Amino acid sequence: MTASADPPPLFLEPAAAFAKIVAERRSVRGFRPDPVPDALIERIFTIAGQAPSNCNAQPWITHLVSGASLARIRAMLRAEAEAKRFDPDVPVTTAYAGAYKARRIGAAVALFEATGVGRDDEAARQASTMRNFDLFDAPHAAFIFMPRVFGMREAADIGMYAQTLMLALTAHGLASCPQAAIGLFAGALKRELGIADDLICLFGISFGRADEAHPSCNAITRRAPLAELLVRHD
Ligand SMILES: Cc1cc2nc3c(=O)[nH]c(=O)nc-3n(C[C@H](O)[C@H](O)[C@H](O)COP(=O)(O)O)c2cc1C
Repeated sequence: MTASADPPPLFLEPAAAFAKIVAERRSVRGFRPDPVPDALIERIFTIAGQAPSNCNAQPWITHLVSGASLARIRAMLRAEAEAKRFDPDVPVTTAYAGAYKARRIGAAVALFEATGVGRDDEAARQASTMRNFDLFDAPHAAFIFMPRVFGMREAADIGMYAQTLMLALTAHGLASCPQAAIGLFAGALKRELGIADDLICLFGISFGRADEAHPSCNAITRRAPLAELLVRHD
């Protein structure tokens, strides 16, 4: 038997299940208010903690906020955003050009079309952006921090942790939205949560049960063809 020459079977049950979970995860911008049971939250965050990291440093520190504390954070974020009191720990990316810019516009257009925001309706666009600071009405938000002394390598670890978390949420029938917009008000967020300034906030992840009736759930983002982003050397 020449097993090594055979292509891997495509429809092994775990592989199909994994592909389905990855495909089902999407950024949801409308949540139902019902909280996720504590035991399920603990299970999901335990799974997320299995993410790999350089030297197993596990550089993520997650503040999980719910209930009355989340209501306070929402009010604070909205007030900071309305006053434009930006105070990010991580500089805002201004370098999107070419294909990156086109993809960014594509994602925004998908959301605006799904939610009926007109191309030139500046007020509606602004209102759509401000929904970030309502955390899209999610019952929970995970604000993800790392020690300020770390750099790009550990930020990559955080990305792996965050995706593991979001896939775990999807696998358990829950929805999420990663939000770099939260990081725009990192200073105020840390003051509100009593977090020292030696931690930096990369982004937040709002999560809960999706409100499937919310029009934003119809926004579908596309991915570049494989050949555009995968360079092979045989
Ligand atoms: C680190 C990170 C930050 C993001 N920040 C925001 C955000 O602030 N607000 C928002 O609505 N979506 C945000 N997104 C969601 C992206 O727009 C979304 O992942 C992308 O358009 C692909 O769509 P999908 O997640 O539905 O597949 C963020 C995604 C990531 C990974």
